Amino acid sequence: MPPVVEVLSDKKALVQRALELVVAQIHEAIADHDYCTLALSGGSTPKPLYEALAQASLPQEKLHLFWGDERYVPWEHSDSNYRMVQEAWLNPVPFPAGNVHGVPVDAAEPAQAAEQYEQQVRSFFAQMEAEGAETGVPCFDIVLLGMGDDGHTASLFPKTEALDVSDRLITVGNKDGQPRITFTVPLINQARQVFFLVAGENKRPALAQVFAQTADASQYPSRLIQPQGKLTWLLDAAAGES
Ligand code: 6PG
Repeated sequence: MPPVVEVLSDKKALVQRALELVVAQIHEAIADHDYCTLALSGGSTPKPLYEALAQASLPQEKLHLFWGDERYVPWEHSDSNYRMVQEAWLNPVPFPAGNVHGVPVDAAEPAQAAEQYEQQVRSFFAQMEAEGAETGVPCFDIVLLGMGDDGHTASLFPKTEALDVSDRLITVGNKDGQPRITFTVPLINQARQVFFLVAGENKRPALAQVFAQTADASQYPSRLIQPQGKLTWLLDAAAGES
């Protein structure tokens, strides 16, 4: 399925459009199987979207939040993606504790955190009797992603081992020696719907490589995201005007 690319006038319009599409996809998932699994992106771009989702009257008891990637720091750390989502969405909205599936960054090692998170993801999908739970690759309803100006997404950074992990759901990413916990390419690509939210002129060069006919995907990892479901790129004009 070819990707859909929408260029919005500015970041505010991008967030508004993302809100419309994500809310619609949440309701579609709940109508189909009575719950929705949403993997959240870190970084700065999606925070206003999470703030807007907190204002949207959603059936949060049917909404399960996961993190597509996380820094290996405590949840209260200023770099934590969990903390960013907590400030934007979890503090204003009373989610049932069992619906918020943060990455277990208190594990002794990053690899243990990845293994534990993988087990949490598998256990969740197994209890929901969802496809791919036991041995296959679970199918998230929605995966939100950003893209760095180097073309990385989630914590799948250029020329790192994480890009080639195909037998796990969760692995350890590496940003300049700093460990990250990240969804793998196969897990992201199993999703029903992937949304990229990309804003800023600094993203243009990498976007050109990601959309080029040919380019080195190990150098521009966002090229690896080719989901079996729908792929939608939401860009602001600063990033998307060619
Ligand atoms: C993270 C993100 C990362 C982010 C990109 C874009 O943990 O930082 O998951 O992949 O999406 O770096 O970040 P911005 O949205 O801040 O440009």
